[in-house]
This record gives sequence, structure tokens and C-alpha cells, in this order.
Amino acid sequence: MLELIRIDPFDDTAVDLWWDIYAAAERADRGAETAVWTRGESRHELQQHTEAIERRAYLARFDGEVVAGGRLALPLRDNRRTASLGVHVAPDFRRRGSGTAVLSALEDAARSAGRSILTSNASWPYAAGDDGAGVPGREFARRHGYALALGDVQSRLRLPLDAELLDDLEREASARHSGYALRSWIGSVPRTLVHDWAELDASLETEAPVGDLDIEPASVDIAALRSDETLLARQNRRSYGTVAQDAAGRVAAYTQLVVSGDDGNAYQWGTLVRHEARGNRLGMAVKVANLRLLQQHAPVVRSIYTYNAGVNEHMLAINRRLGFAPSEHMAEFQKHV
Ligand SMILES: CC(C)(COP(=O)(O)OP(=O)(O)OC[C@H]1O[C@@H](n2cnc3c(N)ncnc32)[C@H](O)[C@@H]1OP(=O)(O)O)[C@@H](O)C(=O)NCCC(=O)NCCS
Repeated sequence: MLELIRIDPFDDTAVDLWWDIYAAAERADRGAETAVWTRGESRHELQQHTEAIERRAYLARFDGEVVAGGRLALPLRDNRRTASLGVHVAPDFRRRGSGTAVLSALEDAARSAGRSILTSNASWPYAAGDDGAGVPGREFARRHGYALALGDVQSRLRLPLDAELLDDLEREASARHSGYALRSWIGSVPRTLVHDWAELDASLETEAPVGDLDIEPASVDIAALRSDETLLARQNRRSYGTVAQDAAGRVAAYTQLVVSGDDGNAYQWGTLVRHEARGNRLGMAVKVANLRLLQQHAPVVRSIYTYNAGVNEHMLAINRRLGFAPSEHMAEFQKHV
């Protein structure tokens, strides 16, 4: 008999148990070396108080033993019909119906919160092929009526990058974007840029390929962006940002790398060029400038991870030129209820 317990994010023992199951479940299916969120990053995210999203985490006990964890995220400003769910079953307790029971309880909670679009995801090593046959998360999703809405590729870039490569790419790009000025910084987005940054960042999810995902553009929310910056500091993460500004000072392109102080990796967050500014190599230009900043100030970082839709050939081509190589598949699932 399943008992699903919602955990208090300030109860360290409960959060530790939840994280141990999450990390063990991810590593079992993606490999022991896969990059997962660190314990501290997860804890602080669960503890964040924000008007933009409600997050819940659960432990599942069967016959007195904790065997699984779950999470639910409910956007509050936009996409209010959507809930994102996660189920993690400890490797020793698989194929006994625990995942199904947790999923069903999470679906009920999402429905009670008025949500009718349920999303989830699962990852597996790139070498295992893109259809995910036999991958637990993929099969489990299929079994429970979740359709594959978008196929993503995780790619990894090993650092340090050859200075000559960066010089070549910068030279090539700069010949095409002479009317734009690049500006880079570490930490919070400067006040004079924050509106444009928030606007571009909000459009990222719907400007990048969405496949069959039923998503609305996110709201431009500077308070939420500042709250997320506070969260980053608590998580021991550090943000590296670069923008390209046109002659009028408007931000035409942005990119962001986030370094995890806990695991020593960097993660590529958004990169976007406004429609009217495309075709000027600004995507490459902001990425190269941001990589230089990262290498200069965080020389200990050895890997950068990025996710792209498998059909986003343009972004994948930029990443390949920088030296990224595919490392995992990630499937984004969706079910309407
Ligand atoms: C996916 C996961 C949650 C499944 O947990 P579980 O407790 O083993 O799932 P269940 O026992 O309820 O399985 C239900 C059905 O899913 C399918 N399934 C689950 N794992 C499978 C596997 N390894 N191979 C093939 N089918 C599988 C089967 O149809 C299974 O029914 P059956 O056992 O009667 O054949 C677990 O493997 C896990 O934590 N994986 C890592 C995280 C993840 O990918 N989560 C899913 C996305 S949220």
C-alpha cells in the first residue's frame, strides 16, 4: 500500500532521502558519471519562495519502506494549465508498480490543482540510440500514455578550449556584426539591461523548437528573474552573461553560462538572437565572448553541458564548431488529461 508524503523543504533528513533516491535513479539509467543536480542545488530550489512557480516534493513509502520520490512543479504566472512531474524509483525497487502508484498520485495532485497538460522527461546515454527502446523512463512514459513531444540532445564540451579556435571563430563572426557591441559580466544582470534580457529569456522556450509541446510564451517577470538570481547565489552557482547591443543600445542577442560551484561543471542556459537581428553571426559572437570570460575567471571548469532540440540544426551546428559532442538523449513527454 502506497503512502505518499509531501516533504517540508526545510526538513533536511527528508530532503536528503528524496535527493538520494533521485540521484541514484538518474545514475542507474544514465550512467554513474552523468551530471545530476547537486544535493544543495536541489534543496535550495525546493526552499525558494517565488510567485512564479509552486514546487512540491514527495517521498513514497511502501509497507513502511521509502522506495521512491516524486516532484511536481506548477507554473503560476503563465502555462497555468501545465504541471511538470517527476518520478524516481530506487534501483533495487523497480518493476513492482511503485513508479505507477507515485505517478498516479502526482497526476491526481496536478488535476486537483486544475492542470490538464502533464509533462515529464527522461534521459539516457547517446550511444544507446534515439528511440530509447528498453530505457526505463521511456518505456514507463509510453506505458502510461505520455507521448514523445520533443527529442533533445545533451552535448558536452571539454575545456580548456584552444585559444586559436576562439580567435578564428571570433574573427569570422565579427566580420558580420560590426554594428553591434558585445558586453559581458559575471553575476546579476546589470540594471540597464535587465528588461531586454528578461524579454529575450522569456521568449526562449517558444522561440526554440517546441515540437508538440503545448506551451505558452512565458511572462516577462523581472521580480522572478531577480529571485532566481538570489537562488543561484544560495545554490553556490555563478552566472556568466554576454549580450550584443545594437547602435540604439537595444539587446539583440544574449547567452548565459552557469557554473555549479558544487560539481565544478558549467551549464549552458539560454542563447537567443532577436528575429530582426538574425543572420549576423551574433549567436556565435556572444557564445565565444562568454566562453572567453568563463575560461578567464573559472579555469577549473572542465566541462560545459548544453541541451538542444534534435531538430535545432542551426544551434547544433554552432555547438559542433565549438567542439561540443553529443552525450545523452533527453525525451520530453506530454499527456493531456
Ligand atoms: C521509470 C521509473 C520511474 C519506473 O519505475 P518502476 O517502479 O520500475 O515502474 P513500474 O513498476 O510501475 O512499471 C510500470 C510499467 O512501466 C514499464 N516499464 C518500467 N520500467 C521498464 C523497463 N525497464 N523496461 C521496459 N518497460 C518498463 C512497464 O510497462 C511496466 O509494467 P510491467 O512491469 O508490468 O511490465 C524508474 O525506472 C525510474 O526511476 N527511472 C529513472 C527516472 C525516470 O526516468 N523517471 C520517469 C520519468 S518521470
